[in-house]
Amino acid sequence: MPDPAVAGASPTRIIAIANQKGGVGKTTTTINLATALAACGQRVLVVDLDPQGNATTGLGVDRRTAQADTYGLVVGDAAAAEAVLATAVPGLDIVTASADLAAAEIELIELPRREFRLRERLAPLRSNYDYVLIDCPPTLGLLTLNAMVAADALLVPVQCEFFALEGLSWLVRTVERVRRGLNPELEIQGLVLTMHDRRNNLCVSVEAEVREHFGDRVYEAVIPRNIRVSEAPSWGKPVLLYDLKCPGSQAYLRLAREMLRRERRLPAPSSAEVAA
Ligand SMILES: Nc1ncnc2c1ncn2[C@@H]1O[C@H](COP(=O)(O)OP(=O)(O)OP(=O)(O)O)[C@@H](O)[C@H]1O
Ligand SMILES: [Mg+2]
Repeated sequence: MPDPAVAGASPTRIIAIANQKGGVGKTTTTINLATALAACGQRVLVVDLDPQGNATTGLGVDRRTAQADTYGLVVGDAAAAEAVLATAVPGLDIVTASADLAAAEIELIELPRREFRLRERLAPLRSNYDYVLIDCPPTLGLLTLNAMVAADALLVPVQCEFFALEGLSWLVRTVERVRRGLNPELEIQGLVLTMHDRRNNLCVSVEAEVREHFGDRVYEAVIPRNIRVSEAPSWGKPVLLYDLKCPGSQAYLRLAREMLRRERRLPAPSSAEVAA
């Protein structure tokens, strides 16, 4: 049951999970952070904005049951409410994606207010949710731009590898351009380190660089590399439903609580939680 003291107490936050680098954990973070936020009593909507549709399959949703999907929202004239499906996770809904969305990058070019389409279509849904998480494709094209214009903030998953910082400076420049022209409110709310391995020296040194450069925008919660996390999507389940006790699930729960605390939707951690 959602805790009324937490759920609905604050305005809706639309967060785009973005990084133009492929395979850094965007979709895994979208699915599992969304599930962890729902487990904390938040009403959450995932918007699958990647033509690969990995968030849709990873949440075990049959996209054929949807009357409309993100393509219909962004390019067509589907109503947002028609596109929402419930998932197996209580409190978590999704707008699915299909391969049709790949054509949207080209079709959007011709459309009026092409960067604002997702923002305008999601507007009627806002009040139904505490969080809307948008899973972006690994590009900085018109779909990701639509997500950046629709969003209040970005969450950037970072895999601690050699080129991580280079990719981030490109992303930061894009965000600055979007703030100047299209969405002055957009902020990088946070960076989350994914697939982390404390035994790997490169990983540890890239983490130090990212923390030095981005300071407290980097979440303390770090997502470890954990086989259970990568197995879960093939069962159509978030890892929290697949194996709640595994290190990956526990890390996504810590990330959700840290996000809720940062946004003042949860009180500061208890001493027991800090010690954990
Ligand atoms: N913490 C983790 N531990 C182990 N494997 C992980 C973890 N996070 C992600 N993976 C695996 O890494 C791969 C890439 O993750 P994911 O699909 O989330 O990245 P992505 O950024 O969404 O990729 P794309 O850019 O293609 O959309 C997947 O096979 C996923 O299962
Ligand atoms: Mg993805």
